[in-house]
Amino acid sequence: MDLAIETVDLTKKYGSLTAVNKLNLKVKRNTIHGFLGPNGAGKTTTIKILVGLLKPNEGTVKILGKEVQGDQADTRLSIGYMPELPKFPKHLKGSELLDIYGQMYGMTKQERREQIPKLVELVGLKGRENDPIGKYSKGMQQRIGIAQALLNNPEIVILDEPSLGLDPVGMVEVRELVKAIAKEDRTVFISSHLLFEIEQVCTHVTIINLGKALISDTLQNVLSKLSGPATLHVEVTALSDAIVTAVQNLPFVADVTQTGNFLNINLTTHDDVRPQVSQAITKAGGIIVSMSIQRQNLESAFMTLINKQQGGET
Ligand SMILES: Nc1ncnc2c1ncn2[C@@H]1O[C@H](COP(=O)(O)OP(=O)(O)OP(=O)(O)O)[C@@H](O)[C@H]1O
Ligand SMILES: [Mg+2]
Repeated sequence: MDLAIETVDLTKKYGSLTAVNKLNLKVKRNTIHGFLGPNGAGKTTTIKILVGLLKPNEGTVKILGKEVQGDQADTRLSIGYMPELPKFPKHLKGSELLDIYGQMYGMTKQERREQIPKLVELVGLKGRENDPIGKYSKGMQQRIGIAQALLNNPEIVILDEPSLGLDPVGMVEVRELVKAIAKEDRTVFISSHLLFEIEQVCTHVTIINLGKALISDTLQNVLSKLSGPATLHVEVTALSDAIVTAVQNLPFVADVTQTGNFLNINLTTHDDVRPQVSQAITKAGGIIVSMSIQRQNLESAFMTLINKQQGGET
């Protein structure tokens, strides 16, 4: 199986609170997989289990097809990890921090000399690598955190909310960086509570809430499931019963309402069926003046999904 990460019935409890609840996660290799959920959904807890910082109460974790139990060095070495809001010693220079981490990864002096300047350049800190981290902006601290996660060229990179606390410009920069990282042959698993953030960088998404996965699919499929079938608004020069009946009889049409010369067509499909609708109207003698698609706003669909589950659990 070509999976970078797989969990089966992963469960983590903090006392009576179940933070991760029988979570089944499948992350394909060489994808950018978004782990999306509101505050407290269980993202950080799951990630800490994946990197061996927490032990689950139940369930299993496989990394690159191999089952891991807790803290296994060989597994950790295939994962680069940036924790949520990383805090590094302020007195260290960026390059010193990377050198220390490189030593911990067992990199030779030669390897560190070669790799660190490349990473500094990749994360956009060239020229600032000899400044103390205490002088770095939040965005720069996130970027040195990402460089740290890439040090030993890991096959899997896990970033826990890499754009937390950044301004819009900083967020764009981090998104670009995430895309750049993924160009090399690796899997990036990135958590966020922001749909638009995930939408712009990820190929696949898992939405988590209350420790459970609600949807997991390609970005395209998740977006179309979230937004639901669209409504088509078609304006014709003159509406007739024949046109309305022709549209109503199409197999993917849920219902049709009329407003003046407009037909409002609710669809049952996610597919783009404008050509078929256009053909049916023309055949029934209609002349189309305009046609537009209206989809539900994604953020509100995401909120509806989360609220629906929360309502169901209480
Ligand atoms: N060390 C802990 N002890 C007790 N409860 C905890 C602990 N860490 C997390 N929790 C609880 O577990 C749940 C999941 O928390 P977690 O940090 O995994 O969520 P998250 O999805 O990362 O949220 P955020 O978006 O705020 O980072 C929350 O209800 C949280 O309060
Ligand atoms: Mg978190």
